[in-house]
Amino acid sequence: MVIPSLIECKRDGGELPPGTWAAIVRAYAADEIPDYQMSALLMAVVWRGLSNAELTELTAAMLASGARLQFDGWAVPRVDKHSTGGVGDKTSLLLAPMLACCGAAVPMMSGRGLGHTGGTLDKLESIPGFSTQLALPAATAQVRALGCALFGQTPEIAPVDRRLYALRDVTGTVPSVPLIAASIMSKKLAEGLNALVLDVKAGSGAFLPDEAHALELARTMIDLGESSGVRTVALVTAMDRPLGHACGNALEVEECLLALHGEGPADLMEVTLALGAEALVAAGLERDREAACLRLQGTIASGAALRKLAEIIEAQGGNPAVTDDPASLPQAPHSAVYVARSAGRVVAVHPRPVGQGIIAMGGGRTRVEDGVDPAVGFVITVRPGDTVKAGQPLATVYAADAAGLQAGEAALSEAIIIGGTAPAPRSLVSHRVSAQGVEIL
Ligand code: URA
Repeated sequence: MVIPSLIECKRDGGELPPGTWAAIVRAYAADEIPDYQMSALLMAVVWRGLSNAELTELTAAMLASGARLQFDGWAVPRVDKHSTGGVGDKTSLLLAPMLACCGAAVPMMSGRGLGHTGGTLDKLESIPGFSTQLALPAATAQVRALGCALFGQTPEIAPVDRRLYALRDVTGTVPSVPLIAASIMSKKLAEGLNALVLDVKAGSGAFLPDEAHALELARTMIDLGESSGVRTVALVTAMDRPLGHACGNALEVEECLLALHGEGPADLMEVTLALGAEALVAAGLERDREAACLRLQGTIASGAALRKLAEIIEAQGGNPAVTDDPASLPQAPHSAVYVARSAGRVVAVHPRPVGQGIIAMGGGRTRVEDGVDPAVGFVITVRPGDTVKAGQPLATVYAADAAGLQAGEAALSEAIIIGGTAPAPRSLVSHRVSAQGVEIL
């Protein structure tokens, strides 16, 4: 295989011959293609895309690079939800225990922060002691025992996505329908699922901001899922402002714990319930979305979802007491209240500067090998449409030091716009996409 000529072929808009993507994935897994050539190839795909045949082959090869979870002969329906990435997007931490309490099995394989967005693994690892590195037999056994395991890729599960994801994160090669679709679906198809719900973000904070791309991504992933026998449904949800109030790893875990105590912000709960209802119906555990929604709400009201999360945390080495004592999560040593500099209407809370601010404060990565500070981030209490007075608190910045506070405040001054005009906020859950087509909600 002559990699430079394959890069040139994709750069010039060509299609690689059958078998080539499979060979590339195998060679990359065997360390026969250096990251600099893989980055160039990925960038060519960002610009030129992939044909359907290339995408199917790439996804299958990424899936085949590792093992799959096996649940043969087990009647409990397996279901998962995955997001295309957002800021403050923490619904996985709520849905995993809620769905498990409703009789689903949730083998949830997640990723780390990508670009300006947060990752479920980084959030989970802010829980003291929590390990996301489960070996395949341990993950499978935990799903059978508790109905849920929350884990990341390892050298045995989806290893090529793990490496490509980290490489794309730092080479500007995330925003691409086929690369996002292959990344997500190669992980999800390794989970041994019966049903999958995709949260496809649209809006300025999404990797693919415009609605047409979000719908294309939804359809692309649904085709990959359905053709592998996994019932796949997508909701297009708003990412033109952060979801919920908390943005940053431990702060988001804390918001989830409050939500499981029944005190979640309305927007977070609306998106969580919409996704969860789709998951229960797709898994055949409820007949319609209304009944599913009531059942999910019941898991919070009864305390069952919180107890399930405590069990999962304990099984994965974390301290389950955190569920009743969020103060035991990592705390940033410095905080500052960010206030409105003028009176007026908040016309936008842009998610991208918020996500970039978290990275600038050390809560995300700029290089593959970077660690993250779990405690830093923002709690933003203001929403687009609110009217504020000069001096009114809009958010709190949590940082490791004075420079972090400054970086956080600079990010918020870019993110929170008071006065002027801006497009009307997107509807929180705007479309439902399935193999049958697109419904506007
Ligand atoms: N989530 C993933 O798992 N992969 C992507 O490429 C984007 C979001």
